[in-house]
Amino acid sequence: MCGIVGYTGQQQAAPILLDGLGRLEYRGYDSAGLAIRDGGALAQVVKSTGKLRSLIEKTDEGRTLPGTCGIGHTRWATHGEPSQTNAHPHVSGNCTGSGSGKVESEVVGVHNGIIENYMELKAKLTRHGYQFYSETDTEVVIKLVDYYYNKYKLGPVDAINRTLVRVRGSYALALMFRDYPGEIYAARKDAPLILGAGSDFSCLASDVPAILNYTRSVYYIGNLEIAKLLPGELHFFDLNGDEITLEPTKITWDAKAAEKNGYEHFMIKEIHEQPEAVRNTLGSLISGGKIDLSESGLTDEVLADIDFVRFTACGSAWHVGMTGQYVLEEMAAIETRVELASEYRYRRVLPRGHELLIVISQSGETADSLAALRKAKSMGVRTLAIVNVVGSTIAHEADHVLYTHAGPEIAVATTKAYSAQLIAVYALAVQLAYVQGKIDGQAYGNYLEELSALPDKITRILEEKERIQWFAAKFASAKDIFFVGRGLDYSISLEGSLKAKEISYVHSEAYAAGELKHGTISLIEDNTLVIGVLTQSAIFEKTVSNMAECKARGAYLMALTSYGNYSVEDSADFTVYIPKSDPCFMASLAVVPLQLFGYYSGVARGLDVDKPRNLAKSVTVE
Ligand code: G6P
Repeated sequence: MCGIVGYTGQQQAAPILLDGLGRLEYRGYDSAGLAIRDGGALAQVVKSTGKLRSLIEKTDEGRTLPGTCGIGHTRWATHGEPSQTNAHPHVSGNCTGSGSGKVESEVVGVHNGIIENYMELKAKLTRHGYQFYSETDTEVVIKLVDYYYNKYKLGPVDAINRTLVRVRGSYALALMFRDYPGEIYAARKDAPLILGAGSDFSCLASDVPAILNYTRSVYYIGNLEIAKLLPGELHFFDLNGDEITLEPTKITWDAKAAEKNGYEHFMIKEIHEQPEAVRNTLGSLISGGKIDLSESGLTDEVLADIDFVRFTACGSAWHVGMTGQYVLEEMAAIETRVELASEYRYRRVLPRGHELLIVISQSGETADSLAALRKAKSMGVRTLAIVNVVGSTIAHEADHVLYTHAGPEIAVATTKAYSAQLIAVYALAVQLAYVQGKIDGQAYGNYLEELSALPDKITRILEEKERIQWFAAKFASAKDIFFVGRGLDYSISLEGSLKAKEISYVHSEAYAAGELKHGTISLIEDNTLVIGVLTQSAIFEKTVSNMAECKARGAYLMALTSYGNYSVEDSADFTVYIPKSDPCFMASLAVVPLQLFGYYSGVARGLDVDKPRNLAKSVTVE
């Protein structure tokens, strides 16, 4: 969702901010804007709708906006249509037209998140004579800052603090004040914001890739904390306005990890990075032939006590939880439930005494997942976060954290982070099973062996990607696709279906194969593509029968199964074979051809696969 950048230093700010916004494009947006000021001069605002390219062209790559201090924004519309007027930056004064040009205003700002009580605040400000030119909640919060700034005349930190206590919702804010040239102020609550500084500059952004070329030393401010940026200096304040000290975190990613490195898209690059993501995540969890989760605080004593596991997450991370449910029940015989975070957070939940609630999130910032975590904590439930982004809010707030080591994931549709999340779940399941005496030492050793063989098996699948590419191109104009599977294969089908629809915009659905007869089969017409996932030998025949029922009604069948199951060719029109592994780990292999299918379908349709329409990588609003 919205991306924020800020820079104050010795260099021209606009090109740096445009570059930063480019690196945040993956977050999803529909308009963009900059506010730049040159020394004491008024800020100059330029906005445009559509792709960042149009802002780049409009500003001649930033050259028409001279100045060494500025803020920038890519907007994913929530309140108000995607238009130039609603695009950020917003200003505290009155604004005519689209809001571009030199602004007289006291305060100029950008915002990511949602201000829930903006209607009430707008009414208050209207009573005090403020007028509004846009439909956004952002304009309201900027004007509220201006109101307190002018009322108490105690400076920016005081005005922002007074605003923070009045505002409900989530936000990351970056603000410039007319009377404070060369300074940027920032604050956050439940929305990502990172800060960095070098010898003569400081900067801020919604995510690390935007500033990685300038600094590796990153500061994370907490909820309701404020940062003040000056060239080469960062100051932090708490809600009382007292200065606080924060320690930087060193980012160890290679800057190249956030580049395409010769691949056409980030998504295909990240698909190819899966063997490494899996290997690195395994490496962080297994040492000396044993699973070691103690760094997260999940000692064997803690694990021995758990008798109920609940996964909660959104999107693909929820699919990982779905796979985890099958794996934990199968391997560790622990009752497990999986819930969408957006559902869990608003329903009556009955926590169990020895429950472990696991939140899975690549970004560690997803609003619903964060709310679910907080709800569980408020009920006294032990929480574990499986997170990719170090220092993210979910990682920060959970009782225990297992980091996935997928590196930066830029494509909106997750691939390598999903694969790394599966590994963390497997390691937890094996360790739980072992500690609780559900498996013996021999089975434990076998599982570890199977796990360490996964990266090479994924590489082998990737070597055959051309077949999938051909098949995806053949079905690129499909109207509907149905993914079917039973048990763990159903959880894989859910992910395959999501990949297809989010990347190629083809309607697709995943069905538990046994449910087909209860409705979906009426949608099967001549040549409807049905993709059967058949990695579980115990239910192989059952799913094959369901696929045959579709074929009898005209469907075109693709089967995804492991080498050796050649009898499937009696029914399937096209078969993709993958190497065998333990049945519990098959999602790690079967997902790869499905990711490739989604990717190549999108490419064949000429779509922007890295940034599908209307989607955002990090969903920081509910
Ligand atoms: C968005 C992304 C998905 C991701 C989901 C959850 O919808 O496009 O790829 O699975 O959010 O994100 P999280 O960061 O919590 O894993």
